[in-house]
Amino acid sequence: MSDAEISPIAFWEDHYQAMSPLTNGIPGKILVRFTEHLSPGKALELGCGRGDDAVWLAKKGWQVTALDLSSRALEYARANASRAGVDGNIAFTQHDLTQSFPQGQYDLIVASFLESPLTFDRFTIFRAAFDRIAPGGMLLITSHAKPPCWGKHADRPFLSAKEAFSQLEPVPEGWEIVFCDDVSRVMKGPQGQESDVSDSVIALRRAV
Ligand SMILES: C[S@@+](CC[C@H](N)C(=O)[O-])C[C@H]1O[C@@H](n2cnc3c(N)ncnc32)[C@H](O)[C@@H]1O
Repeated sequence: MSDAEISPIAFWEDHYQAMSPLTNGIPGKILVRFTEHLSPGKALELGCGRGDDAVWLAKKGWQVTALDLSSRALEYARANASRAGVDGNIAFTQHDLTQSFPQGQYDLIVASFLESPLTFDRFTIFRAAFDRIAPGGMLLITSHAKPPCWGKHADRPFLSAKEAFSQLEPVPEGWEIVFCDDVSRVMKGPQGQESDVSDSVIALRRAV
């Protein structure tokens, strides 16, 4: 079946169907590094998956809206939040970001690996986030810049942070680049194998 014949929602439902509902509960390192010093407010997570990042933010005092295309991912994420005792602080919602961007204003918008093997215009979504950040708020985008050696990646573009930033342009007036670079790490694979990978990290702050 070609890309064009697979619906994104079916792809992601199958993806999560094949996964355990249980996670290791560890939030993304980049999320922690760039947000742990912030005063909590309203946060929006784009593509929350099984919810570890949303749960961590809620534990830090954020009022979180966490959305995903996959109802199964959200089911797992809700159970994850409930086990962590923070389900009251996270509004999980099924939302297709290719159709619309959520209303409201947020002090933090996070997109961690909001990417897909299917054709997916992420940068239109990220640009829509600019209008939804409150003064003083942060937009944090983490993506794969260099993928692991396992899996099929041939058809996907992997952009460095600088290349990804150029796709975000024009960044509106009054935004500060807090960080725009690639960050290396070692990733563990499904068979316990290890691979050197790097993540592109873009952190932007809107002026107060
Ligand atoms: C690679 S996963 C990353 C999940 C999680 N943020 C993480 O770091 O593990 C990408 C997530 O984006 C979601 N997604 C893909 N396309 C989407 C869309 N159009 N609207 C909302 N979520 C989408 C998928 O369902 C999936 O949960």
